[in-house]
Amino acid sequence: MTLANSPNEVVLEVENLCTYFSTRWGTVKAVDGVSFELRRGETLGIVGESGCGKSVTMLSLMRLIPSPPGEIVNGRIMLEGQDLLQLSENEMSKVRGSQIALIIQDPMTSLNPVFSIGSQVNEAIRIHQDIPKRSILEHTLEVLRKVNIPAAESRVKDYPHQLSGGMRQRVVGAIGISCEPSVLIADEPTTSLDVTIQAQYLKLLKDLQQQSNLALIFITHDFGVVAKMCDRVAVMYAGKVVETGGVRDIFNNPSHPYTEALLASVPKLEEDVERLYAIEGQPPALHDLPPGCSFADRCPYVMERCREEYPAAFQVSESHQAACWRLA
Ligand SMILES: Nc1ncnc2c1ncn2[C@@H]1O[C@H](COP(=O)(O)OP(=O)(O)O)[C@@H](O)[C@H]1O
Ligand SMILES: [Mg+2]
Repeated sequence: MTLANSPNEVVLEVENLCTYFSTRWGTVKAVDGVSFELRRGETLGIVGESGCGKSVTMLSLMRLIPSPPGEIVNGRIMLEGQDLLQLSENEMSKVRGSQIALIIQDPMTSLNPVFSIGSQVNEAIRIHQDIPKRSILEHTLEVLRKVNIPAAESRVKDYPHQLSGGMRQRVVGAIGISCEPSVLIADEPTTSLDVTIQAQYLKLLKDLQQQSNLALIFITHDFGVVAKMCDRVAVMYAGKVVETGGVRDIFNNPSHPYTEALLASVPKLEEDVERLYAIEGQPPALHDLPPGCSFADRCPYVMERCREEYPAAFQVSESHQAACWRLA
């Protein structure tokens, strides 16, 4: 293995990413100064309540922010040595799918009902790779087999409605990996699936990752999934990463009050599901953020300083950072 492709090499580096939307209420700072890095073969979990900017961050990485009203106003996205924000739309369309791919939230709506699954899987292959027709079919079958679709030769002509939910999820996964990207983003892929299919799908993603040393970004609000799937975690709140660390750092020593609250609200088996979201209050409106820490209004440890100045990211340990004044 060459050094340039070593397993621990940083494949994606995001620095101070800011994505804003112009709305009639004002500027919505959906993503505001997000930084993280991702290494080959690694799984990074991104967690946070709904509306905190997880999907907008990922759409920014893909450069799929609808503009207007959205705009990436600042930052750097270095993918395998090139800055995606400097690429022309044409150059970016070559990167999309082949170097970085996104599996979106709802597998049911991300497949087109009027095309066979084969043609949807090989669409990306046809765009990105210059290969003859016969080998396109071969490649499509190979990808379908990789995601464990039985009898791929006959399934390839099926339409989405002919498949079960679990199979459709696999097809969406197949589209994601069809051009062997270095980075695969899975945005809450399991929310609409039943538990058994969910477990199978998570295992599938892990297998695919091991086969090709894929770097995976996993978006979820389920800490159970984080524990099973991820090496590192970034916790997002109101458009910012408030804590990052190894999975053990986050579970054993949550250092931002928001992470602590999220972990405390994970339902225990013996408890009522009603307690799922135990954090009082609402995240702040992103067009009208208060000065200081955005979590201040919900924080049990709030101090005067928290309302005045946004805390820097403090080092908790070598692998662990949190943006909270209690650590100053
Ligand atoms: N097209 C848009 N116009 C205005 N605001 C948007 C648009 N898309 C997303 N947002 C806002 O960006 C914020 C972050 O959204 P999102 O990234 O989807 O959250 P998450 O994925 O964490 O649930 C939300 O407040 C949302 O309202
Ligand atoms: Mg989302």
